[in-house]
Amino acid sequence: MAQVSSLSRDPSVPLARNPHLLRWVEKMRQLTRPAAVHWVDGSDEENEYLCDLLVRNGTFIRLNQDLWPGCYYARSDASDVARVEDRTFVCSLSKDAAGPTNNWVNPYEMRRILKEKFNGAMEGRTMYVLPFSLGVVGSPASQIGVQLTDSPYVVVSMRIMARIGQPVFAEIDRGTKRVVPCMHSVGAPLAPGQKDVPWPCNPEKYIVHFPETREIWSYGSGYGGNALLSKKCFGLRIASVMARDEGWMAEHMLILGLESPEGEKTYVAAAFPSACGKTNLAMLIPPPGLEDWKVTTLGDDIAWLRPDADGRLRAINPETGVFGVAPGTSEATNPNAMAMIRRNTIFTNVALTPDGGVWWEGMTKEPPAECLDWQGRRWTPELAAETGATAAHPNARFTAPLSQVPTIDPDWEHPDGVPISAIIFGGRRAHTTPLVYQAFNWTAGVYAGATMGSETTAAATGAVGRVRRDPMAMLPFCGYHMGDYFRHWIKMQRRLRETPKVFAVNWFRKDANGRFLWPGFRENMRVLKWIVGRVRGRVLARETSLGWMPRYEDIDWTGIDFSRETFDGLQTVDPAAWRREVIEHEELFIELHDHLPPEMIYERELLICRL
Ligand code: GTP
Ligand code: SPV
Ligand code: MN
Repeated sequence: MAQVSSLSRDPSVPLARNPHLLRWVEKMRQLTRPAAVHWVDGSDEENEYLCDLLVRNGTFIRLNQDLWPGCYYARSDASDVARVEDRTFVCSLSKDAAGPTNNWVNPYEMRRILKEKFNGAMEGRTMYVLPFSLGVVGSPASQIGVQLTDSPYVVVSMRIMARIGQPVFAEIDRGTKRVVPCMHSVGAPLAPGQKDVPWPCNPEKYIVHFPETREIWSYGSGYGGNALLSKKCFGLRIASVMARDEGWMAEHMLILGLESPEGEKTYVAAAFPSACGKTNLAMLIPPPGLEDWKVTTLGDDIAWLRPDADGRLRAINPETGVFGVAPGTSEATNPNAMAMIRRNTIFTNVALTPDGGVWWEGMTKEPPAECLDWQGRRWTPELAAETGATAAHPNARFTAPLSQVPTIDPDWEHPDGVPISAIIFGGRRAHTTPLVYQAFNWTAGVYAGATMGSETTAAATGAVGRVRRDPMAMLPFCGYHMGDYFRHWIKMQRRLRETPKVFAVNWFRKDANGRFLWPGFRENMRVLKWIVGRVRGRVLARETSLGWMPRYEDIDWTGIDFSRETFDGLQTVDPAAWRREVIEHEELFIELHDHLPPEMIYERELLICRL
């Protein structure tokens, strides 16, 4: 067995002096009663120490370091594999402020529950004091949180996903920014002498947000968005409330740069629901025929957008890592991601190959002859053919540093962000929704985003493949009333000299035989090129009932044999199907009615008239 590394410092010694922080940590220590407290400095030495600890506990398996340097493998508990939307709560003072799309519990009642749950919750474990900055440390656009957690897996994951450690403590000591307290326990205290399990968690989960006091309390899960509180809990739910109050936007969006052959750069942001293609689009490599274009990556999941002094909308990626869907990721679909995950990556719930590597469905054409599946059971293609069992869980993920993407944009850490010229909304729809259209104007674009439908995916527990309304891909992530959120979007126009152009895309339309009509992935570049052309006022489109649509001849088909007929099929707007679609818009609007901006009603009426 490898030598276990140790720390050259005493981790129980506080790394900050801020009296509010010290008092809060002490109060939470008394509540949760951990065996030890560890202040996280974020160093390499500390990371090695924690990874060794995780290997010793059986949470991590060190992958073959010749093939996968710096990479680790984890299997979660079979019951803790995705976000739990039905256990996610927005506990604003009034139920009305949370709105009908969020689970609400009276905050006083919820505090009582949490106090009980967290009482002694960390017994026998170490409580890590993990400071993190969303955005560059010290930048005015950044936000700071401190997560107290009893999961070392969370600590080493957050080290990839956010800026953590000593520089953040220093920023907290300067006292210029409000710190968002983030409490997290896997909810599995250890009695004296009790042996730990590789993935401790609790069947009862609470993912709780207090928007007024800007607090997060997460209990019972160690997985992804439930436990990495910088991500969905702070980066979207709490940040969306801050953004509403302060005049900016926190969105479930990727950010990418498009450089034309002439060197002209255009930045776009795109909102797709979970597991609907953000990571893939953010890392796109142009297809043969369009190789003189360059795509650069700035972010794949969260964008914070704010108007600058000139009234341009600028975006930063508050994160530093990618928590990406593994299944379907391959050299063919996303070579950039494959390069990114070659080192310093944590794989969770994929399959383990006999040579100490990883595999998942879609990674290679040929599956390995055998491997251990995401629950550690023997898996072979033959067994799979019999039982239908997948080797990787459909929501298996890699956690990798974004800086390792070969196409990383030189400005990805620019504190002011990049100017956004286009916003793209995309859903996963087998029918009805065309490949691409441009909304007539900002308000029509807000309507398109607000009424977006998408099939549910494995990123959240529950049924998969059911079409639901997922406004701006933010249904699970908006920390306040969805009607007020639409109003905030509409109002942003007044703060902008020029609004970004708004587009809707759907890579997932299928033919009568259930096959995708659109090749997708790198071929999406053809749609992006048309979008840049529209933004720059260079390409034409025809007016349709939904908006501006490219004609066949408006898309660059160099290097691909793609028929006019298939394209027409992709772009068909069936008035009967769309009248049904509008009725589904109506269902969402009825739910939100008392907070719905009138613009949404007007836009709907105009759409009905055009249909
Ligand atoms: P979160 O990390 O959950 O927020 O999701 P994401 O939007 O980053 O999802 P990701 O890019 O990882 O999407 C993964 C799924 O979308 C996989 O099943 C991919 O195969 C599929 N996908 C991505 N792009 C395309 C595309 O252009 N066409 C098709 N057909 N599938 C795609
Ligand atoms: C999503 O579900 O949208 C994700 C993964 O990006 S998680 O961090 O688990 O929310
Ligand atoms: Mn996401």
